[in-house]
Amino acid sequence: MAAHAGYGKLILFGEHFVVYKAPAVVAAVTAATTCTVTRKDTPGWTQDDNRPAVPGYKVEKKEEQDQATELVLKHLGIDTNKTGIHITLGGDLEAVSGIGASAANCVALARACSEVFNLNLSEEQINQAAYEGEKGYHGTPSGVDNTASTYGGILKFQRTDSSPIFSRLQLGKEIEVVYASTGIVSSTTTVVGDVRKRKEADPVWFDELMQQYQKLYDAALIALENGMFVVTVHGANTIIADWATLGQLMDKNHSLCQQLTVSCTELDHLVQVSRDAGAIGAKMSGTGRGGLMIALTPGAELQDKVAQALRAAGAPQVWKSTIRPNTTQL
Ligand code: MEV
Repeated sequence: MAAHAGYGKLILFGEHFVVYKAPAVVAAVTAATTCTVTRKDTPGWTQDDNRPAVPGYKVEKKEEQDQATELVLKHLGIDTNKTGIHITLGGDLEAVSGIGASAANCVALARACSEVFNLNLSEEQINQAAYEGEKGYHGTPSGVDNTASTYGGILKFQRTDSSPIFSRLQLGKEIEVVYASTGIVSSTTTVVGDVRKRKEADPVWFDELMQQYQKLYDAALIALENGMFVVTVHGANTIIADWATLGQLMDKNHSLCQQLTVSCTELDHLVQVSRDAGAIGAKMSGTGRGGLMIALTPGAELQDKVAQALRAAGAPQVWKSTIRPNTTQL
């Protein structure tokens, strides 16, 4: 990854529940947003946003993005009235609702500022700055997106009353996935706000879903942490993964998202198309009511088949990606 970059992310388990302190599993994708910051003679900040993006995304998110930039700069104590800066965004992460493009933007910006202003920020300070920026996109971020974007790999993450708890899941095997956009740009502020209203109106309903999710998460963690068996054949290690259990749990998580009312017809359709094409599991990922879905497709052949089926079914954008374990220290 380039020095001033933030990864995109896919939530494997626990979007929305994570806002209410349930644990989640999040995986960074290898694509990232990059940022360069240069000083300029005139005060204020200007920006060239050269990120690839799905139609409509950048225009719809511009106001929130500007707020996020202001928040990151403020948090880092950078007064652009004194020192003007020009920001250039790029990279290979296609900005789309659900992929954590806002967090990747904030992480990359914080990294670039750290260098230009000799702030020497630690990874956790980068993560903190990006968390502040995420508040520009929605007031109550759980912190899961910026943490995945900063650290990469596969993480279990839990918000707490103080600092979040997160650690790496040490997977032995890469996972091929397909993710596809509904073409609908969704607003995290609106969807998270609506879930909050529903939760407040009917706490019993929400608690029941939360309990089901917690059981699902516990099972997912066992499948992820213990379900990878290393078999040694003729001196070579082969890793056998418990994809079937993981896939079923992703399917169940999608059903909980439906009950939480954060899925939509378009997401449900793409999830079903993936399953029909042989995906081991599929679910919406991220904010929902538009945005993205993800399908678990171990092996290049299955990955191709599911990607083709999604394209044939009219998904506006389809990406093939590999989730790679990251062993660097947290
Ligand atoms: C958005 O990627 C994930 C949500 O759970 C919001 C959050 O965790 O801040 C919907």
